[in-house]
Amino acid sequence: MKDNLQWVEQAWSDTFEKVKFTSENISARFPTMTSDGIYTDSDRLWGWVVGFWPGLLWLLHEKEDYAPFKDIAIQREDTMDAALDEYVNIHHDVGFMWQLTSIKQYELLGNEQSRTRALRAASHLASRFNINGRFLTAWNKNDVNDADPKGLSIIDSMMNLPILYWAAEQLDAPRFKLIAMAHADTVLKEFIRPDGSVKHMVEFDYLSGDVKHYHGGQGYDENSAWSRGASWAVHGFAMSYQHTKEERYLEAAMKTADFFIDHLDDDSVPYWDFRAPRDETTPRDTSAGACAASGLVLLSDLAPTEELRQRYLTAASDILASLYKHYGTYGDSSNQGILVGGTFNYPKGLGIDCSLIYGDYYFVEGLYRLKNKLETL
Ligand code: GLY
Repeated sequence: MKDNLQWVEQAWSDTFEKVKFTSENISARFPTMTSDGIYTDSDRLWGWVVGFWPGLLWLLHEKEDYAPFKDIAIQREDTMDAALDEYVNIHHDVGFMWQLTSIKQYELLGNEQSRTRALRAASHLASRFNINGRFLTAWNKNDVNDADPKGLSIIDSMMNLPILYWAAEQLDAPRFKLIAMAHADTVLKEFIRPDGSVKHMVEFDYLSGDVKHYHGGQGYDENSAWSRGASWAVHGFAMSYQHTKEERYLEAAMKTADFFIDHLDDDSVPYWDFRAPRDETTPRDTSAGACAASGLVLLSDLAPTEELRQRYLTAASDILASLYKHYGTYGDSSNQGILVGGTFNYPKGLGIDCSLIYGDYYFVEGLYRLKNKLETL
């Protein structure tokens, strides 16, 4: 296997060089998605994407010790304080926002202020727990469909749970972990279908806790299989197993991973929805591939047999290698993204075949994990 992963070192160093170059232009901004190769900024400081750029810089800095990346990451994290202080617009995506930034800075540099930020963010997330429905409420307003936000939960939430597991350990406060597990159990029951495909949005009655509706959300419809949602499930359940060692989360991670892998074609990068009607113009979504691949590297450490560990490692490597070779912008200095071919929101016609900062982040995270793995093989 080690021989099959030799491309990883080249991909890592090409990516480091690319980001050295693009960071001079992106610098102290919150890139979201590209238009004609130029990253547009998040129009909201509290937008769910703001942690990905500093998070990506931390991963590269950790391995390359390149101080300008660290400086930008710290500056971005400081700027995000306004969102925590404002409070009212904060939503469930505080995990994406402060896990990749503040927890990372605390781990690398021991900054106590970063630790406090992440604990505040975790407390906020815990406060979104609906006790009757046993789910984490996603948003305060809903601009995706006509669901009532008071009862809405979405599969993306699985990626936010690690900040709760972290807070439980930091404060020796199991309540954070219990909330995360109660939510994960609800997702297991209501979002994962018997075939391993995943629903995007479930609307509960916020008083009784009963399921009211399933919504297609960013997928094709309520019965389809939005590929980024599938990737959130694979990666999110793998992390819930990593933190709890509860077998049912490992089984969910493997079941959703098997669906994901079995629906890839020779390109190894998924279409935007595994079940949407398809013709020669149907876009793929490199961000779904990147997020799933990084989760699959993690799963290849956790799976119970050598055969399964190899299966997930091979799938992760195939996806990341295809992203690097077929979707990387390395020769194109006019493109600020690392990967093209991302799809943000197909039903709304937004962000089709662009670079997405979370696609770039999970691609770097996947390479980082593969690199760590190579060092131990
Ligand atoms: N979390 C929103 C998305 O995946 O587009």
